[in-house]
Amino acid sequence: MMSKRYTITAALPYTNGPIHIGHLAGVYVPADIYARYQRLQGKDVAFICGSDEHGVPITIKAKKEGVTPQDIVDKYHAIIKQSFLDFGISFDNYSRTTAKIHHDTASDFFKTLYDKGEFVEEVTEQLYDAEANQFLADRFVIGTCPKCGNEESYGDQCENCGTSHNATDLINPKSAITGATPTLKETKHWFLPLDKHEAFLKEWILVGHKKDWKSNVYGQCKSWIDDGLRPRAVTRDLDWGIPVPVEGGEGKVLYVWFDAPIGYISATKEWAEREGKDWEPYWKDENTKLLHFIGKDNIVFHCIIFPAMLKAEGSYILPNNVPANEFLNLEGNKLSTSKNWAVWLHEYLQEFPDKQDVLRYALTANAPETKDNDFTWKDFQARNNNELVAIFGNFINRVVVLTNKYYEGVVPQPNEFSAIDEETLATLKAFPAVIASSIERYRFREASQELMNLARLGNKYLADEEPWKVIKEDDARVQTIMYVALQIASALAILSEPFLPFTSKKLKDILCHSELVEASTWNSISEVLELLPANHTIGKAELLFTKIEDKDVQFQLDKLEASKKANEAAKKKVEPQKDEITFDDFSKLDIRVGTILEATKMPKTKKLLVLKVDTGFDTRTIVSGIAESFSPEEVIGKKVTVLVNLAPRVLRGVESQGMILMTEDESGNLMFVSPDEHDKVSNGLSIS
Ligand code: MF3
Ligand code: ZN
Repeated sequence: MMSKRYTITAALPYTNGPIHIGHLAGVYVPADIYARYQRLQGKDVAFICGSDEHGVPITIKAKKEGVTPQDIVDKYHAIIKQSFLDFGISFDNYSRTTAKIHHDTASDFFKTLYDKGEFVEEVTEQLYDAEANQFLADRFVIGTCPKCGNEESYGDQCENCGTSHNATDLINPKSAITGATPTLKETKHWFLPLDKHEAFLKEWILVGHKKDWKSNVYGQCKSWIDDGLRPRAVTRDLDWGIPVPVEGGEGKVLYVWFDAPIGYISATKEWAEREGKDWEPYWKDENTKLLHFIGKDNIVFHCIIFPAMLKAEGSYILPNNVPANEFLNLEGNKLSTSKNWAVWLHEYLQEFPDKQDVLRYALTANAPETKDNDFTWKDFQARNNNELVAIFGNFINRVVVLTNKYYEGVVPQPNEFSAIDEETLATLKAFPAVIASSIERYRFREASQELMNLARLGNKYLADEEPWKVIKEDDARVQTIMYVALQIASALAILSEPFLPFTSKKLKDILCHSELVEASTWNSISEVLELLPANHTIGKAELLFTKIEDKDVQFQLDKLEASKKANEAAKKKVEPQKDEITFDDFSKLDIRVGTILEATKMPKTKKLLVLKVDTGFDTRTIVSGIAESFSPEEVIGKKVTVLVNLAPRVLRGVESQGMILMTEDESGNLMFVSPDEHDKVSNGLSIS
């Protein structure tokens, strides 16, 4: 039986920062295309998401900014929710995990498993930071991944290889709070015994879903299961999160990856309550298709841990599919929040207002479906200018302008169809099924290209039939041509909706779809004889897309370049500063500008030059350790800064009566602090 009900979830984003194009490309745009498509198929869809507001990164951020974790999540929940709205991500509910309904739902879920004896309760030694007086779980600890050797793995997960592990598995762990090497301290936790579910998971995934899950997803699951599943702690010694609701749980909270996926359930409940519906069929009816849209770093949680939780609870259905994407890079580098290597959605909208669909399209056409992919501004510009403007927009504009010009906007009555007309209409009718088949197989790139092919069909048809020439001799023929072209335009309005929702709406308005007696649907395109009947009146032309200029792209590239520079500057090691001194200390220094009169190498040394320096009031000998950077010849005649009241010191038998002040340039080359060098940058004084 074909499913009628779809519960479609999109990974709950962490609320410790705004969201960027990587989130959109990997999770939210494909999920939205899918949800919109199923709605157009007349399916009963619950498209669910919300903010993931617990977890260590949020407390770290709060500490850094000197505010409460609640302040952080309130701030970013609002920003993220707005970004989703702005980009037309059509969630039926966008909830949050600090909501009461979620705390209750997650708490009850834990209690149910506890009462059923599904947990193992155990006192174990966990990593502890004695300096911070805190247990180190998850992102509070960084160390070497036991699986891939990545030296910056977190306690619960390695972002390099995707493996999820226990913090005590890390090699050479370090506290992310103080940098200290953790000690071990005993504490009690509740563990989900994944080993107990191994046989079931093997059967369900490795046998049951070998064919229909994406190979990247299946592969990760297989490697995980093949490695052997072990019990996983689902509680933590932290104070931000959902309190552990059983005896002995005081001062402990649920592990964020235990509570967050339950957020899908609580968000469904919240939505159902608001809509006067029953939430349970969306999670418990075997005929419901449950789908999780996620990024690849979330695979084990959605394919192994959450299903094991659902199975242990006993009354829930399991996901039918988990179409995880790979990662999107930006201009050749990994997207990074901390390095500000990203295109933030709220910033994009300030710079490209009304171009939400362009970004949706560029990200879909180049989505990281089977491998990591690179977003470049050049590609973005090309997708816009060469496809959306030159093909889609151009076709629609020609159809609408000509219909208005020749027929005052009224769809003409067609006359006899030529073979080309028949063929074009037949090709048109095949498109809904072609695009649908790609979407149903989670091939959104392919689907978006098929949509563009439909616009290409229209463009080519007009270019071949040339109504603007034919109009001079054969008006009857032009009526037929415009009629056919208008049918294509109308199909584009309907089929573009999942991909380009704003454009679809605008195009439907231009074509006055709402005034049609019988509005066409996705499938009716193939069935009905005409989408836009003769005598229907359409509106005036309006541009759907506009060109993106080179300077707009350059602006974005400059912004990234600035980020790169800022990162490099921040990375440069600055020598630790010395202790503070008083002004009196400083005023003891007698510093003069002098001129080097003579210079010779100190015999049998590499570093030392013996200099004769004119200080303005005397000529003295100074031994200076600059011979590796300067030859005697090049320093003679130089103006230099000299500390003249330094107590004399004998070096290799020569008395040095003062010191030449030196500094370094950006690349670490030694330079004189000299009036001759005033136009060069110096970044700190070091005394040689
Ligand atoms: N917050 C997680 C992330 O951004 C995803 C959580 S998905 C859920 O990687 F299932 F836990 F909700
Ligand atoms: Zn790893």
